[in-house]
Amino acid sequence: MGIVKHNKKARGSRPQPLKTEVCEVEIHALSHEAQGVSRSQDKVMFIPDTLPGETVKVQVSKEMRHFNHGKLIEVVNASDERVEPLCPHFSRCGACQLQHLASDKQLGYKQQNLHEQLTRQLKLADIPWQTPIESEPFNYRRRARLGVRFRKQQDEIIVGFREEANSHLTAIKECLVLQPSLSQLITPLQELISVLVSKSRITQLELIASDETDVVVLRHLKKMEAQDVKKLKTWAKKKNVQLFLDAGEQDKNEVSNLTCVWPEEEQPLRYWVLDKELHFNVKNFIQGNKVVNQKMLAQAQAWLAPSANETLLDLFAGIGNFSVPLAKDFKQVVAVEGISDMVKQIDHNSRQNDQENVQAMLLNLADEVLLQKLPKADAILLDPPRSGAAELMPWLAAQSSRILYVACEPSSLVRDAKVLLEAGFKLSKIGVMDMFPQTKHVETMALFVKD
Ligand SMILES: C[S@@+](CC[C@H](N)C(=O)[O-])C[C@H]1O[C@@H](n2cnc3c(N)ncnc32)[C@H](O)[C@@H]1O
Repeated sequence: MGIVKHNKKARGSRPQPLKTEVCEVEIHALSHEAQGVSRSQDKVMFIPDTLPGETVKVQVSKEMRHFNHGKLIEVVNASDERVEPLCPHFSRCGACQLQHLASDKQLGYKQQNLHEQLTRQLKLADIPWQTPIESEPFNYRRRARLGVRFRKQQDEIIVGFREEANSHLTAIKECLVLQPSLSQLITPLQELISVLVSKSRITQLELIASDETDVVVLRHLKKMEAQDVKKLKTWAKKKNVQLFLDAGEQDKNEVSNLTCVWPEEEQPLRYWVLDKELHFNVKNFIQGNKVVNQKMLAQAQAWLAPSANETLLDLFAGIGNFSVPLAKDFKQVVAVEGISDMVKQIDHNSRQNDQENVQAMLLNLADEVLLQKLPKADAILLDPPRSGAAELMPWLAAQSSRILYVACEPSSLVRDAKVLLEAGFKLSKIGVMDMFPQTKHVETMALFVKD
């Protein structure tokens, strides 16, 4: 019998004795959080860094009422799909969860998980899966937010992602999923911040790659010292990157808190998709994987199969990533977005691409009363945040348009799809898109039609 400790009280349940003995279990599946699932014990156990088909030695790390969390101690029998993670920070760093699984197997598991949710929760028998959109396994990410902490006792600056198990930062020197030019800025930035007088005021740094230039945004609490701003400017000029200071840590969409440190005149940031040039600023949302975004747009165009006299309603439109490139195939596009600065970008992007048929509209799509202002359209595209579009679904279900749902969270898609299916829509096409290889995340596109 091993030592029995008392675990901290888990939320909503009584304190459970934490058995720390090591036991051997089989892994039966991979959860949507990319953790191995074992049913070998009396309770289901979720164990990070393990794979289906493996036999592993584990220790219970946290007991919950209906399941346990486990910690991998040793892999006894490894899966053929297991690979050595490329990144030395894997396991601690919270950014990637799947580097121990061969890259070409990851998307299959993600699709399988969604398939199970669709069959179990929506009772769908034949799911019209389409060829997945794949990505380069590494070097793909064009935007990342990293934490910055000043450790006073050690007098050192830590730059890194949050750890999976807690809110600590894993200090990193590079990040293999980031576009290389961004990854190569991490260590120089850590060294630069370390010599600033106001170093303890910096809490976060953001790295963004437009198609032409790299951008660094430093978020800080109190005003930065003038001598530090001077150092930042010299560094940015030498590295040929745009550098911004952002004093509005809490207010993530407010551009007025931004100061452009270098260059002297803020330059527009741009990327190209389906031959359209889209401008954005550092506060705007952009899709995280440039190549997958291009493939996603081409797929949206093909699945919507527009004709020249039709109208499109693009909901959760961002800067017009879908509206502007797709507008040439439609008579009229209405692009709806909840953040006014991005509505302005849609206007700007449609004008500078000569797509006068795009109308940008500022509207809160979570306000059921305001939804009555939405126009009718032949086709509707929605690309909501992770939480999905629950408030919008009754309005959508009452339309007869074809509906293209782009989802970044499978469980929200399944919940929202239920409303459409109950209203008589049919799932006509569905496909996963590998927007974030090596992580638990997956993007999905689903087309719903009414006969
Ligand atoms: C996943 S992003 C998609 C953006 C865009 N479709 C693209 O491909 O770049 C979701 C967008 O929905 C917007 N949004 C979130 N909640 C909203 C709401 N309640 N009403 C309107 N827009 C909202 C966000 O500001 C963000 O631009």
